[in-house]
Amino acid sequence: MSKNTVDFAFLFEDERTLYRNLLGLILEIAQEAIAEKDAFYWAISGGSTPLPLFDLMKVEKDSLDWSKVYTFWADERCVAPDHEDSNFGTAHKKLLQYLPLHYFRMEAELQERDQAAENYEQILQKIVPLTDEGKPQLDVVLLGMGGDGHTASLFPDTSVLEETTKLVAPVYVEKLDSWRLTLTYPMINAAKHKVVAIKGKGKRAIFEEIQTIEAMKYPIQGIDEAVWFVG
Ligand code: 6PG
Repeated sequence: MSKNTVDFAFLFEDERTLYRNLLGLILEIAQEAIAEKDAFYWAISGGSTPLPLFDLMKVEKDSLDWSKVYTFWADERCVAPDHEDSNFGTAHKKLLQYLPLHYFRMEAELQERDQAAENYEQILQKIVPLTDEGKPQLDVVLLGMGGDGHTASLFPDTSVLEETTKLVAPVYVEKLDSWRLTLTYPMINAAKHKVVAIKGKGKRAIFEEIQTIEAMKYPIQGIDEAVWFVG
């Protein structure tokens, strides 16, 4: 896996400006996609970073034909959809219940995690337009980053970082003592736009560090041609 320096970044001192610009970019890509193919396909991450964006989307609900939006997840915790840790549950509470968009959640609560990953891969293959190589090509993958440089559930020292064939895979995160399902690098990197949003000194330090190091030190470096929104 090659390391990737930061490809393009917007730095913000003011959080509100970060999110207004992030919304602007996503709406612009979505409007172009809908004009081109009558649909916009995106995957969202969990965690807290996307939440202010969801709030803005509800305010700007008239800015897009949400019935043409198809929502997927970059990762999911292996819990029931109504569990407080569920990325789907959080997104449903904060966004999905307010807008008429389509969504396809990962059934990460299934004990047969390999089957759950395979099921989701088949959904992606069926719903999302394919590249010439036969990979589902999302318009946007909205990513966050953890303090250890993980993104989606691509955590340091996990075997899923080496996955080059599967598009969705289960991963056991030892330090969290928990299982997750995640899109893999091949699936994320096939997307037209990889948008990484981070806030805070610690994450900004990683952002600055990866512009200078040669080694692959953080999983986020495996995301090709990312556009960064740095707060
Ligand atoms: C998850 C996310 C994860 C998240 C980072 C950052 O399921 O937790 O997909 O990759 O993006 O952990 O989380 P915050 O946005 O809460 O800092």
